[in-house]
Amino acid sequence: MVTRAVPEPALELLRASADVWVSPHDRALSDDELREAVAGADAVVTMLHDRVDGALLDAAGPKLRVVANLAVGYDNVDVAAASARGVVVTNTPGVLTDATADLAMGLLLAVTRRLGEGERLLRAGTPWDWAMDFMLGSGLQGKSLGVVGLGAIGRATARRAWAFGMEIAYTQRHRAEAAIEAALGGARFVEREELLASADVVSLHCPLTAETHHLIDAAALRAMRPTAYLVNTARGPVVDEAALVEALRSRVIAGAALDVFEHEPEVHPGLLELDNVVIAPHLGSATVETRNAMAMLAARNALAVLAGDDPPTPVKP
Ligand code: GLV
Ligand code: GLV
Repeated sequence: MVTRAVPEPALELLRASADVWVSPHDRALSDDELREAVAGADAVVTMLHDRVDGALLDAAGPKLRVVANLAVGYDNVDVAAASARGVVVTNTPGVLTDATADLAMGLLLAVTRRLGEGERLLRAGTPWDWAMDFMLGSGLQGKSLGVVGLGAIGRATARRAWAFGMEIAYTQRHRAEAAIEAALGGARFVEREELLASADVVSLHCPLTAETHHLIDAAALRAMRPTAYLVNTARGPVVDEAALVEALRSRVIAGAALDVFEHEPEVHPGLLELDNVVIAPHLGSATVETRNAMAMLAARNALAVLAGDDPPTPVKP
């Protein structure tokens, strides 16, 4: 059971060894529709907007063996509830690392060089004129990137930022291997407080968990430099969006570039009014190549579990 259309090659792979039902709707299913659709399924391929909790797993019934989430993030899935019912959960790491890091770097450049603002100015037909002090942004060379969560995407983003001349600092639970730090030009492992206080750009790459919910709140924003930028390509609720709007309005920080939002698909109206904000509609993994690879991986995960094999990319219970 596939909760929303996925690229054809993945469907072909699934159809070769299973009866496949794909949602005919070009939208997220409602909770009711989802419960109805999963009933009796052996395997479910879910999207990041599908909430997979105990109630949904129970609605699927005892035949269910695998939830193949078509995303690297799996905050939408209650993994403990799945394990308790003997259901394997899988995600799609790896295949979207570069696409997401590319987008993070694009957002970083867009907000520091005021690209969105410049485009809006031209599209509005506003008269303009080259001048020494026209629309000045902030350079990256010698500035520091503070990475929250040096996983695969955090590392790939840091590698790009380093190539642009930035110095890398990072925070997470455990220090990364020396080789990883060395490959990023000597990335510094720092406490979150130090990262917030010192970074010129803070980029979020942690999963959304109870621990990281509102990790960036009003106090964290106040701890940042008034010249600093925030980039979020992780999950919206890692940031207290109302607090961010307030901080951007009062220039507690210089700007923000966001691919994800606290109440997707809604965007806080305050963000839309501010010039020092760049926003994108959750495009991190949105390339043709990456979406194909994600769908193929999710299909392989589902089929492996159905065949009694270890899936390529299981989520640890
Ligand atoms: C996208 O947000 C993903 O988690 O894959
Ligand atoms: C800018 O366009 C320059 O030529 O320096």
